[in-house]
Amino acid sequence: MQLSNKAYELIKSHFNNKHDKRLKHVEGVAKMAELLALRYGIDPDIAKACGYFHDYSKYDDYTLASKYLSQDEIAECEKYPFLYHAYLSAYHFRELVSDDIDMFNAIYNHVFGRPNMSKLEEIIMIADFTEENREYDDCIRVRKILLDGDMDKAIYESLKATILVVEAKGETPHPRQLEVFKEYEERIKK
Ligand SMILES: [Fe+2]
Ligand SMILES: [Fe+2]
Repeated sequence: MQLSNKAYELIKSHFNNKHDKRLKHVEGVAKMAELLALRYGIDPDIAKACGYFHDYSKYDDYTLASKYLSQDEIAECEKYPFLYHAYLSAYHFRELVSDDIDMFNAIYNHVFGRPNMSKLEEIIMIADFTEENREYDDCIRVRKILLDGDMDKAIYESLKATILVVEAKGETPHPRQLEVFKEYEERIKK
């Protein structure tokens, strides 16, 4: 069976007929990831598999996270709770689908990336922000930049938009998110 089919079947049965909107979202991410993979020379089955699986643990019970996460990771997730689902999804992917490190990283870092991302990591991160079911103005704007062929600018703009949302809530962005933002700011200046 193709990896992407396996990943899709797993998340579908894990969601168990609940979370229809989220299932539609991961289908959208897989579709965008496939398109970008074909464009940037990545195996489309691999990109689709990560797209389907990236939010696998979105509704899991995080009190059970210590089975998978290190003490450092738990401390980080307590500070930034939205990271729980990304980290747990990556560990479940490794357990259930594939132990490939690039795929693991793409799911693990899908929320805001990390410095020096691989192409697959970039694809999953930006596909999450721009998939066709996303209707926010920022997502529509960034989708256009991406589909026009400027992945670096799309990533820069997506990070800028999410950092502004975090700051508007009176919260501080994750330091790694700011690092990634600076990296892409440098890249688009060139
Ligand atoms: Fe997510
Ligand atoms: Fe997502």
